[in-house]
Amino acid sequence: MTGMFYELAIDTWGEEEIGAIRRVIDNGRYTMGDNVRRFEEAFAAAFGSSYAVMVNSGSSANLVAVAALAHKAENRLVAGDEVIVPAISWSTSYYPLQQYGLRLRFVDVDIETLNMDVSKLERAVTPRTKMVLAVNILGNPCELTRLRRFCDERGLYLFEDNCESMGASLDGKPCGTFGDVGTFSTFFSHHISTMEGGVIVTDDEEIFHLARSLRNHGWTRDLPEGSPIYTKRDDDFFEAYRFILPGYNVRPLELAGAIGLEQLPKLARFVEGRRANAALFRRLFEGDSRFVTQKENGTSSWFAFTLIPDPAARIDRRRLLGALRDADIGFRIITGGCFPRHDVIKYFDYDIVDTLDNANIAHDHGFFVGNGPEDLTPQLTRLRETLDAVVG
Ligand SMILES: Cc1ncc(COP(=O)(O)O)c(C=O)c1O
Repeated sequence: MTGMFYELAIDTWGEEEIGAIRRVIDNGRYTMGDNVRRFEEAFAAAFGSSYAVMVNSGSSANLVAVAALAHKAENRLVAGDEVIVPAISWSTSYYPLQQYGLRLRFVDVDIETLNMDVSKLERAVTPRTKMVLAVNILGNPCELTRLRRFCDERGLYLFEDNCESMGASLDGKPCGTFGDVGTFSTFFSHHISTMEGGVIVTDDEEIFHLARSLRNHGWTRDLPEGSPIYTKRDDDFFEAYRFILPGYNVRPLELAGAIGLEQLPKLARFVEGRRANAALFRRLFEGDSRFVTQKENGTSSWFAFTLIPDPAARIDRRRLLGALRDADIGFRIITGGCFPRHDVIKYFDYDIVDTLDNANIAHDHGFFVGNGPEDLTPQLTRLRETLDAVVG
């Protein structure tokens, strides 16, 4: 042992979260109820969105949000429509697109920000394009203003997967709120944790109502009178179990809502701690041309710290990772790596726009180490020393 293990994910719960769990248990209502509703209201207010819908994971948030766009009354997503996507993201950013019959057009990433290289957008767009998937990778805002304008000029949807970047912002606007729909994850390793959890935000009332129905069996029970997506009939017996959409059951637990209510007010402090660690990480690694580290765009909430050994420096990643393992430092692939490299791609309808050179470099050479709200000075110092011992 060389000291405390440098974890990939750091626990952020205190007594308040444990107290919230106890209150739910004492109350006896475990599934979606008042705590979830209050968390949704607090979440929408915190991010300046009109509406928020909580579900049981970020993956479910992506699924329900795509499903909502596929069930809009007008201009809905239909099988065969194309979506421009970055080559690096998490698997479940892409799966709902495949499941709704959409064709993906993979665009390379910028090697420094690890976000979509927007200079490739013109090459990626075709007459069949219906949507752009914006992903803010590992806390770092992608070119959201540019993407928003690109979509507005062409009448495309902007879908913002912000599951890795809660608390980040661009020009003062919170990430997650640039898209027609935005998604968040509150999984254990993320900026706030409700064990498992996800949130959809939108300013579009129709998407909001569709998402509420789709999350809960596709029924009408969670919709108010006067909903834009259905008209209530004068028959309570029938209305109690009235199904209008081919939906899911991806409801969150009350436990998650109650924990979220405790975690959300701590988010700003958590992000501050993460940014303080990032300042040290940058001091330790900036100027070392042997490693490409993630370049901040706007205000990152620094999910993690990426390191991509410059391929020209011919550093053997296996040797590097072996040294990290020996030094008790956790590490992993950057998000999901270059996604089309995975076997599951055989199920997708897709194109590759030009080449994915940078995503492949990140896949073949890169890795990340963890970040969290607490002071990681000893861990980051150990990381620098360990890498120095390998690369000289
Ligand atoms: C970009 C991105 N989207 C979606 C998800 C899915 O979130 P969850 O793990 O809550 O299902 C993740 C997972 O971390 C992610 O990184």
